[in-house]
Amino acid sequence: MSIRFIKNKQRFILHTKHTTYAFDVVFGRYLYHTYYGKRTNAIPDPIDRIVSFAPYLSTLDAGKSPDFFPQECSFYGAGDFRPNALRLSADGTGVCDFVYHSYRIFKGRVALDGLPAARADEHTHTLEITLLDEVSGCRLKLYYTVFADVDVISRYMMVENVGERPVTIHKCMPLMLDLDRSDLDMISLYGSHCCEVNFQRTPLHHGLQSVYSNRGASSHHYNPFVALCDHNATDERGEVYGFNFVYSGSFLDEVDVDQFGRTRVLIGLGSECFSYSLNEGEVFCSPEAIMTYSSSGIGKMTRNLHRFVRNHILPAPSLDPHPVVLNTWEACFFDINEDKLIRFAKEAKKTGFDMLVMDDGWFGARNNDQAGLGDWYENRNKFPDGLASFVKKIKAEGIQFGIWVEPEMVNPDSELYRAHPDWALRVEGREPLRSRHQLVLDMSNPAVVDYLIDRFDRTFGDIPIDYFKWDMNRHLSHVGSSVLPADQQGEVFFRYMKGVYRLFDWFASRFPNAVIETCSGGGGRYDLGMMPYGFQIWTSDNTNPYARTMIQASAMLAYPAATMSCHVSNPHGNLRSLDYRYKVAVGGMLGYELNILDMSDEIKRDISAQIAQYKSFEHVIRLGDYYNLAFPTKYSYSAYYYATADASELLLTLIEKADCQKGTTKLLKLKAARADAVYTDVLTGKTYRGEELRHGLRVDLLGDGDRAQLFYFRVSDICNKI
Ligand code: GLA
Repeated sequence: MSIRFIKNKQRFILHTKHTTYAFDVVFGRYLYHTYYGKRTNAIPDPIDRIVSFAPYLSTLDAGKSPDFFPQECSFYGAGDFRPNALRLSADGTGVCDFVYHSYRIFKGRVALDGLPAARADEHTHTLEITLLDEVSGCRLKLYYTVFADVDVISRYMMVENVGERPVTIHKCMPLMLDLDRSDLDMISLYGSHCCEVNFQRTPLHHGLQSVYSNRGASSHHYNPFVALCDHNATDERGEVYGFNFVYSGSFLDEVDVDQFGRTRVLIGLGSECFSYSLNEGEVFCSPEAIMTYSSSGIGKMTRNLHRFVRNHILPAPSLDPHPVVLNTWEACFFDINEDKLIRFAKEAKKTGFDMLVMDDGWFGARNNDQAGLGDWYENRNKFPDGLASFVKKIKAEGIQFGIWVEPEMVNPDSELYRAHPDWALRVEGREPLRSRHQLVLDMSNPAVVDYLIDRFDRTFGDIPIDYFKWDMNRHLSHVGSSVLPADQQGEVFFRYMKGVYRLFDWFASRFPNAVIETCSGGGGRYDLGMMPYGFQIWTSDNTNPYARTMIQASAMLAYPAATMSCHVSNPHGNLRSLDYRYKVAVGGMLGYELNILDMSDEIKRDISAQIAQYKSFEHVIRLGDYYNLAFPTKYSYSAYYYATADASELLLTLIEKADCQKGTTKLLKLKAARADAVYTDVLTGKTYRGEELRHGLRVDLLGDGDRAQLFYFRVSDICNKI
């Protein structure tokens, strides 16, 4: 059992395979955090200390102030002056003070009402801690779900109003971790559209440091993933704590260093874009946040997170080979029609693609980005016999079919908006702002989601669509709903996401054989909340291979390759450029977006060969463990490899940037290689002892840009036999 309660110490201990997490119930009421780190049974005991300006209860002595000790969940206004995890009240003060009441340990986990959550397996256990706040009349349940196999613990909370007055939640941070140290660096990922997930590592300083989104989407601008690590931590050495949020809307990650140099981490919904009213008898359920710990460097944290995503987050189809798609966007933009796409399908099939994806432009009056969003029925000028007949013709070519949608959006120039202007988010008396000529539908309004369900049901009905690309191309401004009263407008951001997730759930159950790739202008919703629905995510609208090398390397810190959709685009008829773009794209799930109708036979032959080669090692990328060797922001090249769980196959990629010096030799140490094995590089036929790969494979840089090398090692023999 991964969770234990030690009665005489009033101590909870949670073990994963390599980590331990512990806290005690102290003074009959508070939860005192005592340990998170390497697996151990030696848990330190709580201490008390008298601290100036720290308030305490008259029934306890001055050494027992909540402002002093590390806690599991801290409450606004109740004596802990650090940033708090929960602010809630019935009287407008926001002050709350929950007292420990009881616990329950059980197999599995509880579902989160209308929210995505990590999947439990037979080894998953949960600790439920119940606390009560008599004044507000609320019961608080804190959950700790232990995914022991992947060294991840998740946290979520439920607030039940069991009192007689409505209460309002003003801040909700389901994950709180107090660490007894601050000699740490913070790693976070910032960016913008087409320039997502830039790696940032800075030493912690006293005060608050945070990343956040106020945009209604997790956003290109900060990813919800953050990590803390030793100042000298490397990929292979040092202590590292990783955190993430299973949610796709506005979020807040706070890291505070207090007066005594101790660090508090809070991951959750924050307060700026969140509040929630609870009437008597109602329950609020927070999204889930996760943490992992590695005592052996950043690489191990990454592999924990990857395994967690693969084993507990991604939907089952993601574990099967992903189709190699040809997407029409960069080839055609809005200029699509039946004849053209059938020609695309024929060529795509001949070239070896699995699927044709029809991107934007197929519906309503969608001839550019100024009209049509919301009108989810085929444009008969482009598809004269209708969508069903068109899809039948595409499938007759022996290829799968995918289609683009952007359900949450509406163009003011659309039938939908003309009929229901009140269905867009807006604030009475204020002009709703446009972005990419579009407004955002009020997904917090159940009537809007019901309408979309009905509309998509009628349009896609029983058409055998294999794939939906679900896009979101702007953020939420003037967030107000015409269906909620004034005192509940603060709920719209959260209710919006629940409406979106309801529509995702409907898609998943209505089209059980289709997969969903999610997208938000590329990586604007590259988060754990999307991943239970989407078998992969379009990583960035930027397909330039140099930029992609950076973006992909950073995305891999927190998310596995199985989620990362990578396309080859625009090689401009140049074979070397095609080769380079391909070798960059096989960092993740390969696809292409190029005009196959104007490609030379030579290029098409090369693409066929690339697809065939990729399929020979796709499983290593999709399911393998990831090892970073050279991070591209630090070096003039990027190097990494994937290893299958038994290390019988290793796929090594070396991507040179423009400033690489020709002839320079690099020693790439593949430490996951088996020392007892002989490997053959399937691509060249050369053999290597595993020991040699572990000590370092010598690779010459080729120089002058646009160069990349792949090595695909497979165990071909065992050493002691030769
Ligand atoms: C977004 C996506 C692109 C494409 C366009 C279509 O920008 O990221 O891949 O689908 O929308 O409008």
